[in-house]
Amino acid sequence: MKTNNIKLNIQDNIATLCFDLENEKINKLSFAVLEELKNKIQELKTNTDIKVLLITSAKKHIFIAGADINEIKSVKEEDEVYDILMGVDEVFTSIESLPFPTISVIDGACMGGGLELALSCTFRVATNTSRVKIALPEVKLGIFPGFGGTQRLPKLIGLIKSLDMILTGKTLDAKRAYSLGVIDKYFSQGQFEYKLQDFIDGVILGKIKKHEPAFNVLESLSFSRDIIFKKAKQSLNKKLHPSFTAPFIALDVIQNSYEDNIKDGIKKEARAFAKLAITPESKHLIDLFFVSEDLKKDYKDIEFDTKINNTTIIGNGVMGKGIIWLFSKYAKEVRIKLRKLEQAQGIISATSKLYSYFVKLRKMTKKQVELKLNKLSYTNQFNGLSRMNLVVEAIIEDKEQKKQTYKQVEMSVNKNTIIATNTSSISVNSLSQDLEHKDRFIGMHFFNPVNKMPLVEVIASKETSELTIAKSFEFLRRCGKTPILVGDCAGFLVNRVLIPFINEAGYILEEGESISNIDKILKEFGMPMGAFELTDVVGIDVGYKVASILEESYGNRMKINSILLSVYNDLKLLGKKANKGFYTYETNSIDKENQDVLKLITNTTSSSSKDIINRTIFIMINEASRCLEEGIIKKVSYLDFAMIAGAGFPAFRGGLLKYADEIGINVIINELENYKELYGDRYTPSKLLYELQENKKTFYTGEELWN
Ligand code: NAI
Repeated sequence: MKTNNIKLNIQDNIATLCFDLENEKINKLSFAVLEELKNKIQELKTNTDIKVLLITSAKKHIFIAGADINEIKSVKEEDEVYDILMGVDEVFTSIESLPFPTISVIDGACMGGGLELALSCTFRVATNTSRVKIALPEVKLGIFPGFGGTQRLPKLIGLIKSLDMILTGKTLDAKRAYSLGVIDKYFSQGQFEYKLQDFIDGVILGKIKKHEPAFNVLESLSFSRDIIFKKAKQSLNKKLHPSFTAPFIALDVIQNSYEDNIKDGIKKEARAFAKLAITPESKHLIDLFFVSEDLKKDYKDIEFDTKINNTTIIGNGVMGKGIIWLFSKYAKEVRIKLRKLEQAQGIISATSKLYSYFVKLRKMTKKQVELKLNKLSYTNQFNGLSRMNLVVEAIIEDKEQKKQTYKQVEMSVNKNTIIATNTSSISVNSLSQDLEHKDRFIGMHFFNPVNKMPLVEVIASKETSELTIAKSFEFLRRCGKTPILVGDCAGFLVNRVLIPFINEAGYILEEGESISNIDKILKEFGMPMGAFELTDVVGIDVGYKVASILEESYGNRMKINSILLSVYNDLKLLGKKANKGFYTYETNSIDKENQDVLKLITNTTSSSSKDIINRTIFIMINEASRCLEEGIIKKVSYLDFAMIAGAGFPAFRGGLLKYADEIGINVIINELENYKELYGDRYTPSKLLYELQENKKTFYTGEELWN
């Protein structure tokens, strides 16, 4: 079928290939588009009139967003992937070999395959606008640049800078891309047309030289290059689980092909990519990318006039401060209700501290930070709330104090103000009981630390209106967060599923296994922290409060084990914030297991790695299946996404319930039944697990059983 996704125009000896994919909002490199590009390049190759070729885009905000990931995902055979990549290389090499110079004109997202295409051009220029986002983000999808990126980028900008881009997938704006040498020039929006024309004229006259910032001298010697590779590997080992293989393989490819000619290097890249792309890890990460895209559409079709811009935060503890910082970055106005006005100073320093990271990375200037801080205003009354679109409460986890606060807030706000609670466990229905306008009350459960955690659980009570949900979603997305709607129950989704994991680790400890061994095994499984380190980081007091509320609501199956009880009640430990929890801490990092906790353990039964993993993970699977049963979350893929984004379940495993499906429902039920015999009723398999078994379904194929 003849497609017309790339428009060719030749005028005054200047050829332009303008990407404008038919019936698509964005440009991406599908097989069909690449075929069309190949034909267009063939057509241009022999045209002796052409002096320069421009590659541009007609899409707003997008140059080329990348390869068509769906197509890559659908390929099952390694050799098939390899052949596809060699085909792409043919196209990119033919661009590189054209008898005239080529310029990529970037005025939007230039990602993955889009950047790799641009790298095969002689020059790259961009507008200096926030639209321009330049990156090779493939490692985030469990793959790595496979269209020549691991070969062309190091040759263009040097080893150290390209490793940084390829192994982290970080995004550059035009200025940063220029300073690294990824692009040759950037122009401000207003001057774009004439400066671009100037640039083109210069290229035609052979007056323009590539912008080539110097490479680090260490890169020129094979001995010091080895050190660079070694350091890069150490840094990956430190940060990543070994099963998250993409960055490790990318590093190997770059190291093993660094001295090759481009042709041989491309073959090595293609072979390694093909091997990786068919692994479950890479397919899982690609699936998660699609889930995150799917989530972006939730509540998008409800229209409203007044967006959330003016905000108030009540409570200035750990969470309050994080939310104040977030809103200062994205909202127009941030009013802070304090109990004492002298608390303002603490807020200013906490907020400035969070901004200092951006200043250090030169993502913000001091002036810009000052403007953000100027949005903050303070009150110790409930005044100034009448112009607010949103009031978020983040005071201590105490139902009566929270309800008391809402009463006062409701008297001071306008008829459209949304009142939100950041409670981590109390039912939103019960909190809204005494409110007059329950339709405008909602749960916005941010995760700690707010500046780093992308997830926000949004909890609607029975009476929360769709409009309130839609406005909240829109605002949270503007704040760079991923909101997920979850049902109203104690602990909502993430904490309800996560607390049994921590509690179970407590039981295993009580039986005699060591704190550090349990944590080590869980980290090897892929959790970013073991259960005890996590509890210390969250705060034992915070965890205890949530766990108590869950025990109160779900009874015996969430009964807090005696070690956790003693650690909080008798030893009065708080965790990392007080340098003492399950571990003791020195200069902010774990020193050793806390001897006071060890004294509480009188049993000596150790557990196998298999039992440590199965007991802690299967109990989460069981609780997650109850959440599906009760309609706490609408899709199994959303549940998996939430547990990854909110609780750190390893993404390379695809999610908690994808992992369950891979283990097999029968195996999980058998193990739970065994554990029930050994350790008690908390292991009773959920009704849904039995239903899946009976119907020979998995979580991902059995949706009709709970919907
Ligand atoms: P925190 O103890 O650090 O801060 C509570 C703050 O509220 C303190 O600044 C205190 O002065 C203030 N406060 C207490 N009573 C107040 C009242 N009646 N009026 C105004 N201010 C009052 O607590 P944290 O950790 O910030 O938690 C706040 C809320 O966020 C709780 O509902 C908690 O469950 C929830 N949450 C906590 C998370 C965490 O990891 N710490 C995570 C997600 C939610």
